[in-house]
Amino acid sequence: MSDSPKLTRRPEWVALEDHRADGLLHPRLRELFAADPARAERYVVRVGDLRIDYSKHLITDETLALLQELATATDVFGLRDAMFRGERINVTEDRAVLHTALRAPRNAVIEVAGENVVPGVHAVLDKMADFAERVRSGEWTGHTGKRIKNVVNIGIGGSDLGPAMAYEALRAFTDRSLTVRFVSNVDGADLHEAVRDLDPAETLFIIASKTFTTIETITNATSARTWLLGALGGDEKAVAKHFVALSTNAGKVSDFGIDTANMFGFWDWVGGRYSFDSAIGLSLMIAIGPDRFRELLDGFRLVDEHFRTAPAEANAPLLLGLLGVWYGNFFDAQSHAVLPYSHYLSKFTAYLQQLDMESNGKSVDRDGHPVEWQTGPVVWGTPGTNGQHAYYQLIHQGTKLIPADFIGFANPVDELEPELAAQHDLLMANFFAQTQALAFGKTPDEVRAEGVPEELVPHKTFTGNHPTTTILASELTPSVLGQLIALYEHKVFVQGAIWNIDSFDQWGVELGKVLAKRVEPALTEGADVPGLDPSTAALVAAYRTLRKK
Ligand code: F6P
Repeated sequence: MSDSPKLTRRPEWVALEDHRADGLLHPRLRELFAADPARAERYVVRVGDLRIDYSKHLITDETLALLQELATATDVFGLRDAMFRGERINVTEDRAVLHTALRAPRNAVIEVAGENVVPGVHAVLDKMADFAERVRSGEWTGHTGKRIKNVVNIGIGGSDLGPAMAYEALRAFTDRSLTVRFVSNVDGADLHEAVRDLDPAETLFIIASKTFTTIETITNATSARTWLLGALGGDEKAVAKHFVALSTNAGKVSDFGIDTANMFGFWDWVGGRYSFDSAIGLSLMIAIGPDRFRELLDGFRLVDEHFRTAPAEANAPLLLGLLGVWYGNFFDAQSHAVLPYSHYLSKFTAYLQQLDMESNGKSVDRDGHPVEWQTGPVVWGTPGTNGQHAYYQLIHQGTKLIPADFIGFANPVDELEPELAAQHDLLMANFFAQTQALAFGKTPDEVRAEGVPEELVPHKTFTGNHPTTTILASELTPSVLGQLIALYEHKVFVQGAIWNIDSFDQWGVELGKVLAKRVEPALTEGADVPGLDPSTAALVAAYRTLRKK
């Protein structure tokens, strides 16, 4: 049990409240920049290939100093060091949190319960690389001897979002002769659409599930097996050539009928949403090859080392985490937008939703007491420029404060045709224009000076003062993707540490799972479900009336 003072009673917290109430009552970015143009260079942190500009935030040097004091008081770096040391900081599951070991070099030593886990990590990576090369080269064939041309990953949550997001992000680095698809939803339509145009004899299923008990994944995997065996004459031996498993649960993998020789393992100290650089990344490794996968891991590693060693004032994950706390806890911001200006990052924000919201969507502290402060934000967003024509209106002129991260690249991917590559400057012109407009807006006088009739002036005025972070890199490579993900992983960590919550459990997902199991017989057989509330019972009855079978 912790005897440290409640977060909101800490003097450092109270100092931030006072700072927000007095000096920065209505901080205006226009004035802040006019008084201190050098903040454009000073409020920039570089990590690896990322240039992170946080000058367009409602902060001064004093704000930053006060936020840093809060980080010190809540011992963020103490918890960080405990995580890197392999201590069991996931208190409710009594587990170490060591996704950072997944990208450690071969010669590193990281111990869990007295055992160095790094050799095991590399043994799995080597096994994955060997398998990926055999699929890519055509040496690994299907049951009928045909080359594998299609890879279908079946998994959900952390066993889907990471590889699915990274496959999109790194399309330009993939073997274009392979078709790689991701099935997650228990809605049969997902698997149907994924396999309807595939030849089963050329298709490899990767069943990704840490626990190998997740109902969606096991249901889809069973249906995929039926589809495959139906097409290949029912010979059970075909399973060995067309199914591999990514899991921590060898017993369940073998119960399902997959030879554990075709299983790629990981460990309970890798959380589902932190697992995509473990065996869970196999589909991606097949798509981009082991060397590119290694570059991705090196990118993660670079930011791990930065987070572990950079001083507080230049520590990017710490700064981003603190900025989130500043808005969430002192401005009542409820959400956080992540807006990548790259079509390839179309699934990046969806990936971050699990990373952030499953980690920090908590309302009790590490000791089980209700928290009296806001925790994780709603994370949302889609790639620019599409969002500009949908919901940016609300960010610019609505009543809500929505801090946003803009992620962009100086160069398009190499393989774009010249005329398409030339569109990149237009994309990025929008990127820069948006953060400028959000920060500085347009005053009524500026609107009037354009000859706008007086009655329209309020409508065409932009208050500005909407905070943004701009993350710029040269190009989207495997390493840069790894850097970006690790940056957000550690940002989420920082916030969980400050809020004193367990960012590594996910009990909130359980109740829905249990109730679904209870309701299912009512839908399929019309069985009585004891304890069904009147509203749900009426809905179930209506469903059964409408259901055509
Ligand atoms: O949604 C809950 C969850 O437990 C996630 O944390 C996890 O990523 C997902 O389900 C899938 O779990 P598994 O990999 O065990 O199938």
